[in-house]
Amino acid sequence: MYSKQIIDRFQNPKNAGGLRGANGVGKVGNAKCGDIMKMYLLINEDEVIEEARFKTFGCVAAIASTDVACDLIKGKTIEEALKVTNQDVYKLLGTMPAHKIHCSVLAQESIHSAIEDYYKRKGKENKNI
Ligand code: FES
Repeated sequence: MYSKQIIDRFQNPKNAGGLRGANGVGKVGNAKCGDIMKMYLLINEDEVIEEARFKTFGCVAAIASTDVACDLIKGKTIEEALKVTNQDVYKLLGTMPAHKIHCSVLAQESIHSAIEDYYKRKGKENKNI
């Protein structure tokens, strides 16, 4: 059973869609369930995440998790965003069924994947990823 917060985020995601000019794009998937998440970041010269958007092909919890993850990292520096965990995500979603926790993990991984892509484009490396 999904919480009210999960249903609400699924039905009215605030951050769904692509992002023109994104300079960090991550893509992750879960082989077992087949869900796929794409995260788009616009990171400024001070390495602050100005905008975050997502496209998720997946379950209700996956869509809600990615939407919350975008909110959690907007306005944060890259280093701060890398500290956002799946627990931070599912705490904002109320109770999450145990078999859906991996959806929040995937959201965390999508953040890391997008930041990794940002560093690749810059020809840099971040050991915290
Ligand atoms: Fe796999 Fe949701 S069921 S990400």
